[in-house]
Amino acid sequence: MTTQMTKQLLLDIQRLNVSFNTPEGRVEAVRGVDLSLHAGETLAIVGESGAGKSQLFHAVMGLLPRNARATGSVQFAGVELLNQPASTLNHYRGKRMAMIFQDPMTALNPLLTIGRQLTEVLEVHQGMKAQTARQTAIAMLEQVQIPDASRRFASYPHELSGGMRQRVMIAMALLCEPQLLIADEPTTALDVTVQSSIMALLREICASRGMALVLITHDLPLAGGLCDRVVVMRHGQMVEQGGVEDIFYRPLRSYTQHLLSASGFAYPCAPQQ
Ligand SMILES: Nc1ncnc2c1ncn2[C@@H]1O[C@H](COP(=O)(O)OP(=O)(O)OP(=O)(O)O)[C@@H](O)[C@H]1O
Ligand SMILES: [Mg+2]
Repeated sequence: MTTQMTKQLLLDIQRLNVSFNTPEGRVEAVRGVDLSLHAGETLAIVGESGAGKSQLFHAVMGLLPRNARATGSVQFAGVELLNQPASTLNHYRGKRMAMIFQDPMTALNPLLTIGRQLTEVLEVHQGMKAQTARQTAIAMLEQVQIPDASRRFASYPHELSGGMRQRVMIAMALLCEPQLLIADEPTTALDVTVQSSIMALLREICASRGMALVLITHDLPLAGGLCDRVVVMRHGQMVEQGGVEDIFYRPLRSYTQHLLSASGFAYPCAPQQ
C-alpha cells in the first residue's frame, strides 16, 4: 500500500451539480463533478473564468447564494455537508475547513483592527481568554511572516499592503487549525514577487501542518509549483485530472494543452532529469 492510500479520505464529492436561477433562465455552473481529496494532499483546480471553480467550493463550504441549487453529495470526513443546516455546517466551516478569498478587502472588516478580527475568532470559536487570544494571534501573524507583528496587530486593514492583507487572511484561516484550506485565487491581485512569497508560505504551512490544500487558480504554472495533483475544469465539468507531471508533460485533452500554451508553458517538452 502506498502512503497516499493509507491517508484519511477528507473530502469526497460525488455527482455535484450547481445551478443558478436567473432572470434569463437556469445557469448550470457545476455539472456532475466527482472529486476526492486525502489528508495532507495539495490539489489545484484550474480553468478559465466562468469554468465553475469557485462555485464548486462555495457549494462545499455551504456558501452558495439563495438563487443557487446544489445536488449530489459532499462528504467531509464521512459526514454529508451538502444542503445541511448552518448548525451542522458550523462544526466544519472555519474549524475543519477554511477558505481564503481573492480579494482580502471584501473579507476583512474595514472598521476593526486586524488584531480584533483575529482575537474575535479565537474568543468566540475557541473560547479563549483575551490575553491568550492576543498572544495566539500575534504568534500567528509571526508565522505568516508579518514583520513587527505586535505593532501590526493594532493596524486597520487599509493600513496594510495587499500582500500583507492576504497574509492576514491566511493567518485568520489558520487560527482554528483546519485540516483543509481552500484558497480561491489568493494572489491574483498581487504583483509577481509578492505572489511567489505567498505561495512559498502556503507550501511551507501545508507541509509543516500536514494540512490539505485546494488552490483555485487560472494560472497553471503557479498550480504546478505548489500542488501534487491538478484538476482541469471547463464549462462546469471536470475535463482532466492527474499528477502535476502528467498534466504538464502528458496532457490527454486538447483543452489542457490549450491552457498550457496560453499560459506560456513550452509544450510539448520532456521533463528535465
Ligand atoms: N450568483 C450567481 N447567479 C447566477 N450565475 C452565477 C452566479 N455566480 C456564478 N454564476 C455563474 O456560474 C458560472 C461559474 O462561476 P464561477 O464563479 O464558479 O467561475 P470561476 O471558474 O470561479 O471563474 P473565475 O476564474 O472568473 O473566478 C459562471 O457562468 C457564472 O456566471
Ligand atoms: Mg472564481
